[in-house]
Amino acid sequence: MKAIVHNTYGDADVLRLADVPTPTIKPDELLVRVRAAGVDRGAWHAMTGLPLAARLGFGPRRPRRQTPGLDLAGVVEATGSAVTGFKPGDEVFGAGSSSWAEYARAKPARLIHKPAHLSFEQAAAIPTSGATALRMLGPVTDKGRDVLVIGAGGGVGSFTVLLAKSRGDTVTAVCSTAKVAAVRGFGADRVIDYTREPITGSYDLVVDIAGNRPLAVLRSLLKPRGTLCIAGGEQGGRFFGGLERNLKALAVSPFIGHTLRAPIVLAGRDDLAALLTIPSPLERSYPLADAATAMHRLAAGRVAGKVVLTNA
Ligand SMILES: NC(=O)c1ccc[n+]([C@@H]2O[C@H](COP(=O)([O-])OP(=O)(O)OC[C@H]3O[C@@H](n4cnc5c(N)ncnc54)[C@H](OP(=O)(O)O)[C@@H]3O)[C@@H](O)[C@H]2O)c1
Repeated sequence: MKAIVHNTYGDADVLRLADVPTPTIKPDELLVRVRAAGVDRGAWHAMTGLPLAARLGFGPRRPRRQTPGLDLAGVVEATGSAVTGFKPGDEVFGAGSSSWAEYARAKPARLIHKPAHLSFEQAAAIPTSGATALRMLGPVTDKGRDVLVIGAGGGVGSFTVLLAKSRGDTVTAVCSTAKVAAVRGFGADRVIDYTREPITGSYDLVVDIAGNRPLAVLRSLLKPRGTLCIAGGEQGGRFFGGLERNLKALAVSPFIGHTLRAPIVLAGRDDLAALLTIPSPLERSYPLADAATAMHRLAAGRVAGKVVLTNA
């Protein structure tokens, strides 16, 4: 089968289309013929091997898993002997393994059937970014809040704005000039262009997705009992990325009036089902062979919402 591979770490130029063996599945796995695969920062981390600490998982010298990609939408090709609830021919979406390929393995706990109203491309945009946004916002009973979303123009940010609005939150969204129109389109009540004005206001919830601002700055934007939820932050040091800040947030949280959270999220079936209630913020799709172009755009911060890769 065709797949995108990289056998060394680097920028998107390390990605190439190659012929590789079709994966074999274990009894508890499905083989999915991938129609569309999601592109996100997780794939960027796996491609670059950054931050360096992540190479403990990805492979110290070169990537252990040479085909990137988690999120997928496609058609079940085969099911392992222990799999129930799915059969060949079913249209599914969710999180799999090495999804930038014609075929990928997936586990039933991280897949659901794709509803007919969603295209494969729209569905492949959802899993990891959508599930992360759900976790950032907390329980669905938390609604009607003043919410600030920093990094609102990207994958996780677009879902966070869409979901918060669907719950009745009042959303202030932070992004650069190029994404202001897109972020308004996701439904934000107020948009702050961080390249032109300071981030101001007082919020019940601050969702920090990008920029690596100091905890003291983020906490100054919270109401007295407010919550800060950190998704990531790409501008930390080369070894830990923004991770030191996340760990510090978790360490100080029990001792202060604010609640600071920094969850690590894997999309599960309940997340996928909950995400069917909002539109998919798909910006555009690229053929699988153009994965490097898609990744260059993501790395340069030019994607508003989500991009996906498609197989004919
Ligand atoms: N915790 C988890 O389990 C989990 C899961 C998924 C992702 N993540 C992390 O979440 C982060 C975002 O992922 P993503 O997929 O949403 O990435 P993305 O699609 O690349 O979006 C990142 C957004 O941040 C904005 N941004 C960059 N610098 C900024 C700054 N200084 N201030 C405000 N906004 C800024 C960028 O656009 P503009 O600057 O043009 O506005 C871009 O829209 C990454 O660090 C990723 O690793 C964590």
